[in-house]
Amino acid sequence: EPVPSFDYVIFGATGDLTMRKLLPALYRRFAAGQVPSDARIIGTARSPLDDEGYRERARKALGDYIKGDEFVDDTVARFLGLVHYVSLNGADAGGHWAGLEAKLATDDAGRVRVFYLATAPDLYGAIARNIDEKGLRTAQSRIVLEKPIGTDLATARDVNEGVGRHFPESSIYRIDHYLGKEAVQNIIALRFANPMLERMWDRESIDYVQITAAETVGLEGRGGYYDGSGALRDMIQNHLLQVLTVVAMERPSSLDADALRDEKVRVLTSLKPLDAGNLGANVARGQYVRGMAGGHEVPAYREELPDAAPSNTETFVALKAEIDTPRWQGVPFYLRSGKRMPEKLTEIVIQFRASEPGLFGEARPGSRLVIRVQPDESVILPLFVKQPGNTFGLGEVDAQSALGEAGRAGFRDAYEGLLLDAVKGSPALFVRKDETEAAWAWVSPILQGWATAGSGPEAYAAGTWGPESARALLAQRGHHWVEDL
Ligand code: BG6
Repeated sequence: EPVPSFDYVIFGATGDLTMRKLLPALYRRFAAGQVPSDARIIGTARSPLDDEGYRERARKALGDYIKGDEFVDDTVARFLGLVHYVSLNGADAGGHWAGLEAKLATDDAGRVRVFYLATAPDLYGAIARNIDEKGLRTAQSRIVLEKPIGTDLATARDVNEGVGRHFPESSIYRIDHYLGKEAVQNIIALRFANPMLERMWDRESIDYVQITAAETVGLEGRGGYYDGSGALRDMIQNHLLQVLTVVAMERPSSLDADALRDEKVRVLTSLKPLDAGNLGANVARGQYVRGMAGGHEVPAYREELPDAAPSNTETFVALKAEIDTPRWQGVPFYLRSGKRMPEKLTEIVIQFRASEPGLFGEARPGSRLVIRVQPDESVILPLFVKQPGNTFGLGEVDAQSALGEAGRAGFRDAYEGLLLDAVKGSPALFVRKDETEAAWAWVSPILQGWATAGSGPEAYAAGTWGPESARALLAQRGHHWVEDL
């Protein structure tokens, strides 16, 4: 069903994210009939392009990222008809704002306007101010902020305050595309719609939880951004902590945006602090060196950097988080993310406690529930069953369900649903100010601890599951990462 008509103004429109994610996502929703034919997508960036020049780039991006029979020439041509461009430095009050104003001119006062900020985050405040002061913020306007929101707690607050001076919090949509993933949203349904799981979702029954987001890719030419970021800022502060909040939150009073987000904030503010004093026992960080990936040798991280400069940036991090609430006291939540891992795998494993040993012979591990986010979206619940015949020997069967089958028209990419949620004005799957800041408040002392540690990340060979210390982190308590289970 189509959403109300809108103008999507993208700042950073020539950048990688716009080309790789935003335009393909809007195209797919257009092809699915959800984008009204009078909607407009207005790219802005500093490059001196006109509409045609930008459409050329957009067409190329769609060619690169929309594959197979999804790419339909006629549909692409109609979609490109909605695409416009204004050459504008959004942070500069003296820029060509009149050009944007002219593009946005409309008789329809109720038309939705979405400003999508995909530039460096230290420009967000200035762009928001200019939008406001140039009179472009209407009653039906929202502003979407791409991650990262800052690089630590102080800069995140600066961004939030800067934007907050010009847009009310209710119209600020901080995007975290992991919340747009079907399997992540499904955690809420699994937990609260299945009494069996709901009753077992606590320290009495759960031994530990692990959340992995492993990627096979390396730097992908993003060295300029990534080397100043690293895995902790790039993946843990946002995506993995968001997943953690959904796994760990108390039952919300409703599924309203603020009821959900109130509970998520409570999880974040209940995380036990990790800092210089306890990093050694709780955090492992690594950087990949040359190794074999996908059957061929790939270079070291440092060799992928533009000037092959020495770097202490971590491309892998594993850590043990604990949540200081009655439900989770003593239950470790192991989070892990890395580049150049053996496979692309995003998975949540809930490891239940083992039952009393004896009845069926040797001690058995407890059951586990696996929620797989990528590469396929599924729920896996291995069960012990009796082997056929007059014996009580045990075997394992997998109760597995592909989430896509149960769902409505699934999205190919998490951005699709989220981009239109911003148009519809549904903020439930976006991150509230206090959530971002609570996540940074927890992550910043880890960064500070590293900065003063005097040592850098450990080396791990590309194509492996990270440094040995990541395994040791779990071995302390006899726990295992999923690939070792
Ligand atoms: C982005 C990170 O937010 O998420 C990238 O900046 C990472 O470094 C990406 O590759 C992973 O997203 P997904 O959806 O492929 O798991």
